Amino acid sequence: MVQKDAYEALEHKIMALRENSRTGDERKTLDEVFDRDTILGIYKLMTDGYIDTIQYPVSTGKEGNVFAAADAEGKLYALKVYRTSNATFNRIAKYIEGDKRFKGLSGSRRKIIYAWASKEFRNLQRLEDVGVKVPSPIRYYRNMLVMQYIGSKAGPAPLLRQVTLDDPEEVYSTLIEYMRLAYQEAKLVHADLSEYNILYYRKRPVIIDVGQAVLTDHVNAKDFLLRDIENVNRFFRGLEVSILSRDEALRTITEASK
Ligand SMILES: Nc1ncnc2c1ncn2[C@@H]1O[C@H](COP(=O)(O)OP(=O)(O)OP(=O)(O)O)[C@@H](O)[C@H]1O
Ligand SMILES: [Mg+2]
Repeated sequence: MVQKDAYEALEHKIMALRENSRTGDERKTLDEVFDRDTILGIYKLMTDGYIDTIQYPVSTGKEGNVFAAADAEGKLYALKVYRTSNATFNRIAKYIEGDKRFKGLSGSRRKIIYAWASKEFRNLQRLEDVGVKVPSPIRYYRNMLVMQYIGSKAGPAPLLRQVTLDDPEEVYSTLIEYMRLAYQEAKLVHADLSEYNILYYRKRPVIIDVGQAVLTDHVNAKDFLLRDIENVNRFFRGLEVSILSRDEALRTITEASK
């Protein structure tokens, strides 16, 4: 049972975050994200000791918002909060339906969105287990995911598209290797891989936004993989890296080496 005072204190803090937001758009987003259930969920993450404070918004995306949060020692985490709106639901439903891990899942919009947060959590776990650099998953609860914060106190790590790479060849081959490990060892295809979903941290790529990643036996897995390869190839071609052809990349990623 939630203690009324503590809950109100949290609601207050979130109101303060809202007041501190610079733009009208930011305020609107916070209103959309922090419905009552979500505030209660954050309250639960706080009383369970995963986070202590929400520090600042990092990003406003199509389906969710990412915040920098800190635990009682001041260590930062990324808190991703999925919106429970219809628009989010419509976009994610097809990825959940084709996933045997969620067979039999039906019910309310909210339940499906909660399943989505757990799907991103599990995908992060599977990828980390096989050695793909992703934010370490810490905890999911309802429409929220707590994970390792990639960045420093000064701010989150930049996206790949925002940086000048010292050694683009090296980053390219690391990404091909990550796609191979994901496919062969974790049995996953990212399905939205591009320079927009890769952070650049300590001179290495970190893969993020893995909610939509599908198992390799998903009916569309091959098409998603080809699209991922083409996105990565397009980006590195622009940096004049000598890239693998689409078919070479596909073979490297999907076929066991002899
Ligand atoms: N673990 C993390 N550490 C630091 N920053 C992060 C982390 N996860 C996400 N971000 C930041 O938040 C942004 C949005 O995250 P993500 O791509 O997972 O969400 P999304 O809702 O799919 O957003 P979009 O629609 O913009 O892709 C990222 O582009 C990145 O800048
Ligand atoms: Mg993204």
